[in-house]
Amino acid sequence: MLIAQLSDLHVGGARYREELLRAAIAEVNAAAPDLVVVAGDLTDEGYPDQYPIAKQELEAIECPNVVLVPGNHDARHVGYLYFEETLGSRDSRLRLELGGSTVALVAVDSSKPDLDEGEVGREHYAWIEEGFAGEADVRIFACHHHLMPVPGTGRERNQVLDAGDVLSLLRRLGVELVLSGHRHMPYVWPVAGMCIVHSGTVSTLRTRAFPHPAYNLIRISEERIAVELCIPSGDGRSLGDYPREWPPELSARDRDLSVRARGGASLAND
Ligand SMILES: [Fe+2]
Ligand SMILES: [Fe+2]
Repeated sequence: MLIAQLSDLHVGGARYREELLRAAIAEVNAAAPDLVVVAGDLTDEGYPDQYPIAKQELEAIECPNVVLVPGNHDARHVGYLYFEETLGSRDSRLRLELGGSTVALVAVDSSKPDLDEGEVGREHYAWIEEGFAGEADVRIFACHHHLMPVPGTGRERNQVLDAGDVLSLLRRLGVELVLSGHRHMPYVWPVAGMCIVHSGTVSTLRTRAFPHPAYNLIRISEERIAVELCIPSGDGRSLGDYPREWPPELSARDRDLSVRARGGASLAND
């Protein structure tokens, strides 16, 4: 199974370069992924003239499964309304048959209007739990903000306000892959049975310690999760090849009693 992870397009921004986005999408199409996740900051300021451009560019993605979540920049200037008008729901729960595997995917809007800080929010926990319930071969969670600090980005800020509770929840629910953006720095944290994968900025020159625009290609096989960083029109390099099966004493999924979601909530389209 192949997943393309793009984020931080920042359409309309001063350092946005449409040629980078077009090159990345052409490369993604050539790779023919089973799923494309666009993990937020599609626009630079959430303005109504920026969303149609972002939509038009993203329509070039040929993959039948494209999942979008907003980022903090998309939620500026009531951009969350324009996101919904232009692109659809800000949250999604999906069951997909990809590459012979059943994938449970939950993608959550972690942004708050006009704030750079993010929060998944307690009101989402039961909804997330429902999304991952039942049989699935792979469980994937996506949100724009980062759940773990990302090195090479300067001062730490904007990690989701409830990162600890969310990490605990996702681990308990058997999530294997977490996809985030926001820090414009490609990085992977393998933590407690999960690969927490951050994508860089795909189409801006707003880079940090890794000084190139980038996106990720993630290959999930029976036993491994391999993450490849790709520079649009440039080369690629591995961000690691991780085992899916963790020793139970390291994933410790059943040992964490800190978070218990309450069932029955439903916040968005399934
Ligand atoms: Fe961004
Ligand atoms: Fe962001």
